Amino acid sequence: MSERIRLFINDVSPRDGLQNEASFVPTADKIALIDALSCIGLCRIEATSFVSPKAIPALADAAQVMQGITRVPGVIYTALIPNLRGAERALECRVDEFNLVMSVSETHNLTNLRMTRAQSASALDEVMALARAAGVPVNVSLSCSFGCPMEGDVDPGEVMRLADHFVGRGATGITLCDTTGMAYPTQVADLCRRHLGVFLNTDLTLHVHDTRGMALANVMAAAQAGVRRFDASLGGLGGCPYAPGASGNACTEDMVHMLELIGYDTGVHLDALIACADRLPSLIGHPVPSQMVRAGRRDRRHPVPASFEEIRARALARDAA
Ligand code: COA
Ligand code: ZN
Repeated sequence: MSERIRLFINDVSPRDGLQNEASFVPTADKIALIDALSCIGLCRIEATSFVSPKAIPALADAAQVMQGITRVPGVIYTALIPNLRGAERALECRVDEFNLVMSVSETHNLTNLRMTRAQSASALDEVMALARAAGVPVNVSLSCSFGCPMEGDVDPGEVMRLADHFVGRGATGITLCDTTGMAYPTQVADLCRRHLGVFLNTDLTLHVHDTRGMALANVMAAAQAGVRRFDASLGGLGGCPYAPGASGNACTEDMVHMLELIGYDTGVHLDALIACADRLPSLIGHPVPSQMVRAGRRDRRHPVPASFEEIRARALARDAA
């Protein structure tokens, strides 16, 4: 039997998921969510973001969250960082990895981060220097890598140029983000193959949103193209409040369910993951777009209808007649 290919799943629900919730999730509940996610085989958890609390009030408790969680050895606790102020706050809380963010789209970068792309790149260069001095690894997430909801198509060459900029400065990973679900499978496969062919020693992660129902198709295309790392969000929560029309990420439990069925090894304990997702609606006060929460795994069995024996008897009686 051939070895199953190992994939690495990063759950971003505490960050991408909760940043987009209308009501503030209490800090203790965020900590409990991260602690539950820590024990089920995920390789990474994006625990929060160190952004301006005015921009994202939902994550204003980033420091308390980082300090309150129980860290499980082997799990990398990462956080989103847009500038030097965020990096300094994250260092104080001993995050394992900086996940820097900027957009491939000038318009989205201005809307989301209040900076031009050039200003963001130079702010992030300073953060990279700080990270190097502190010995903290850096991943860079490139928003709108597959299209911008305001500008439309983005130039794949520009995605590659930005990746090259950050890899050249020591980033150990690049995440290509489909911020508003504009990506489609052939586009994803093309860009991921191109990226993997150039940045041989850099971890590539795909981060997709299901805004147009293509998230899992994009994940499948990327896995077949050789991508081994995926962002996903428990319950399918998520979305950037500064990207018009944004909605939830690829749902972690739906993704793990599919990938395990088709023969990949995600390392994630699916039943425990679904149990975490089942608790989300009461945590956030509304239903979640998770198919696993709605329908359960494909091996779930339902009882036959109460009238089944009668139906069978009538059907068999037709043979006898
Ligand atoms: N953490 C906490 N506070 C921060 C901060 C950070 N990382 N960066 C800036 N601030 C504070 C400043 O101290 C200043 O505070 P003051 O008003 O009390 O003096 C205020 O925010 C404005 O600072 P400035 O540098 O002018 O920021 P800005 O208003 O131009 O906003 C960002 C720039 C990047 C900080 C802001 O747009 C942001 O945090 N965006 C993130 C949005 C996001 O997370 N989107 C979803 C994820 S993709
Ligand atoms: Zn996202």
